Amino acid sequence: MPHVVFIAPRFLENTNRYVRAFAALDGVTLSVVSADPAEAIPAAIRPYIGGHFGVANCLDGTQLTRAVRAIASSVGRVDRLAGALEQLQMPMAEVRDALEIEGLSTAIARNFRDKDRMKEVLRARGVPVARSTLARSRDEIVAFIEQVGFPVIVKPQAGLGSRATFRVETPDDLAAIASPTKTSPIQVEEFVRAREHTCETVTIRGTPVWRSGTRYFPSPLEVLEAPWIQYCVLLPREADDATWTRFHPTNGDALSALFGDQARTAAGTALTHMEWFLREDGTALVNEVGVRPPGVQIMPLMSIGHGTDMIADWCRLIALDQFTPKPRTMAAGSAFFRGQGAGSRIASVTGIERAIEQAGDSLVEMRTPKVGQPRAEGYEGEGFAIIKHATTEGAKLALRALIENIQIRYH
Ligand SMILES: Nc1ncnc2c1ncn2[C@@H]1O[C@H](COP(=O)(O)OP(=O)(O)OP(=O)(O)O)[C@@H](O)[C@H]1O
Ligand SMILES: [Mg+2]
Repeated sequence: MPHVVFIAPRFLENTNRYVRAFAALDGVTLSVVSADPAEAIPAAIRPYIGGHFGVANCLDGTQLTRAVRAIASSVGRVDRLAGALEQLQMPMAEVRDALEIEGLSTAIARNFRDKDRMKEVLRARGVPVARSTLARSRDEIVAFIEQVGFPVIVKPQAGLGSRATFRVETPDDLAAIASPTKTSPIQVEEFVRAREHTCETVTIRGTPVWRSGTRYFPSPLEVLEAPWIQYCVLLPREADDATWTRFHPTNGDALSALFGDQARTAAGTALTHMEWFLREDGTALVNEVGVRPPGVQIMPLMSIGHGTDMIADWCRLIALDQFTPKPRTMAAGSAFFRGQGAGSRIASVTGIERAIEQAGDSLVEMRTPKVGQPRAEGYEGEGFAIIKHATTEGAKLALRALIENIQIRYH
């Protein structure tokens, strides 16, 4: 009976979905590590949890190791250590290394978390990526720009959520960014003009068994640069659309390069989220890959598109190395609502009724922004909606109805 330890930093809505799905698996013992006390575990699932261990900080590898060691000695040998957040990837790998738990080691986790190393590994295997460098001084940025020209993108070496990611177009832009140092280098990349897509892949011990993909409208960078843009993610109806399928061999090469000599082990049983660029001339470049369930509502989009519950499927995959591919039957999309103007709170929300009316039967779920709600920090905005449609075109129209009608203003 496999014993899974799931890291649930707080027992919040989304995390609880994973806890519930692991708990529901027949023949699996579930323990959880959390910064929340055991009392915060939803009552309905408490009986299914073998062990709970509290830590002050789930992102601290040393604390996690102590917790997982304690679980191992009280509940039993740990077979899998899982967590859904990007920030957990390195600390979890530290625990696996320390306690000899099968799965992603720190050496391989770094291929996914360190953007410079990721690009080096991909390049070495002939996977197309943007030219890049890890700059340790302003001079190194200047030297890189002399090679590739303006514009360039600068971002943190271990970024997430597009934080501190900027387009540098002129020497003035360059002067405005903080100088990197030996101890805090920054990732600098050639600017790729392209459409941005994702490729979600299920691999079992390194072999891809299922793929899905979405498109971002517009790119996360544009979303970042224009905080008022309400953006969408679209999962098309056609699973065989050549835009995505042509990328599959590159996706396979990239994953095999990144999983490296751990591909055929439990580390290679994963759902990965790859972001990739498609240029006007038809060429594709890999941007980055996460070994975790994707954000921006891509999990529910995949569930709707394939008539399944992707969270339950992911938990089964991780715990038992099992996955049943399901065919695409629907197009799906998510729209993110973001406000206009200055200010820190929502002053008004308009157009909701009209958006709902126009989206019609396509609307699956809407988290409506509320007046008085504080301005959101990340790019996920103050609210979102999820839609489905029998056709890709219908899904696009429904998304458009949402973002064109709903208007949020801050004050
Ligand atoms: N080389 C590049 N050329 C053009 N745009 C880029 C490049 N690198 C990054 N971007 C833009 O910046 C966004 C964020 O970059 P990236 O995905 O590497 O960082 P991240 O912080 O891991 O993002 P997230 O967690 O939001 O996926 C990309 O989605 C893309 O829009
Ligand atoms: Mg990204």
